[in-house]
Amino acid sequence: MSIYNVTPVSVEDHRRRAKRRLPQFLFDYVDGGANAEETMAANVSDFSHYRLVQRVMRDVDGIDTSTQLAGHASSMPLALAPVGMAGMFARRGEVQGARAAAACQIPFTTSTVGICPVEEVSAATGKPFWFQLYMLRDRDLVQHLLERARNAGCDTLVFTVDLAVPGMRLRDFRNGMLGGGLPGKISQLAQIISSPRWAVDVGLKGKPHNFGNLRDVVPDPDDLDAYKAFIDAQFDPTVTWKDIAWLRSAWTGKLLIKGVMEIDDAKAAVDVGADGVIVSNHGGRQLDGVASSISKLPGVAAAVGDQTEVYLDGGIRNGIDVVKAVALGARGVLIGRPWVWTMASAGESGLIALLDNFQKEIATAMALMGVTRIEDIGPELIEQ
Ligand code: FNR
Ligand code: LAC
Repeated sequence: MSIYNVTPVSVEDHRRRAKRRLPQFLFDYVDGGANAEETMAANVSDFSHYRLVQRVMRDVDGIDTSTQLAGHASSMPLALAPVGMAGMFARRGEVQGARAAAACQIPFTTSTVGICPVEEVSAATGKPFWFQLYMLRDRDLVQHLLERARNAGCDTLVFTVDLAVPGMRLRDFRNGMLGGGLPGKISQLAQIISSPRWAVDVGLKGKPHNFGNLRDVVPDPDDLDAYKAFIDAQFDPTVTWKDIAWLRSAWTGKLLIKGVMEIDDAKAAVDVGADGVIVSNHGGRQLDGVASSISKLPGVAAAVGDQTEVYLDGGIRNGIDVVKAVALGARGVLIGRPWVWTMASAGESGLIALLDNFQKEIATAMALMGVTRIEDIGPELIEQ
């Protein structure tokens, strides 16, 4: 940005500020994806393959962007996606994200590996939020986490199925975030020292920095490496749809299956009783070379959209992208990096302003396409 531009407005404005403020290993963890990051880039760029249809001379007074997501009223078809360790990018980041989402009346999703425990998130807003879970080898622990989430007021479980193993994120190795040994630790310390603002605001004042949802089951609650070892050992690569059937019986709330790209997998999710699927490739952080999520949405929506709710994440960067995804069959979308970059750049109030902008962009696009209700945004508004 030039020095005369004082207000960050777009997601990209916030991304640039986040880059300046965060220690490099943390910025890279958010910003990066798997391998050559081709899928991550395609998630964003493939939106431009779809053109909206401009319609004029229709009475568009009284635009209403509100809708229902997983059975709850939402001010627009947008939710905040689960992001692990959000509390490392801003002070008590999950709390700030949940508060901003509550202020804008959209769902917030907290990650299994969030820094703030579900109880802290719940106390911050007193509102229901969504809880994301991976399958852990210890099924009693899964039950325990479900119970804690339920008690904290979560009524929607986002169950992530595209992380049988972690993707190969080269930036995390390069900058010492993962597996760097002593040289990696020294490099991280140097990165922190050159980010003084983050070091005080988040590094010192944002403690404790452990995985709040797992702290009563990890041997050393203050050692992030111990947590990491625990998670590596606990993430269960043997999971199949049978386990999801078990999960379905263990969780009575809404169940959204996150990380489905293929029609057959979406059908399998419907067959085990999911209330929704999230078309997602984990923001390009898992299988590099797989298609963009937006390119997969129309097929999945056509196949299962009349039996289940279809959501999308990956590459949404503004309200126009939201409108395109809804026109292509999504009930709603989730954003990952955009909310974290914005929180790192401008905190909770900056995030509220960004979400307000998304809503204005959605409303403006609707007016210029000649529709006033979200349910009127259909495939006829995408150029064929
Ligand atoms: C994620 N994502 C993710 N997903 C999940 O189910 N559980 C998690 O803990 C995380 N953690 C996580 C950390 C970071 C730093 C990022 C960037 C992403 C994936 C996330 O929910 C979502 O699928 C993508 O971020 C969507 O793509 P965009 O919006 O970032 O392009
Ligand atoms: C990630 C994990 C936490 O994408 O889902 O980094």
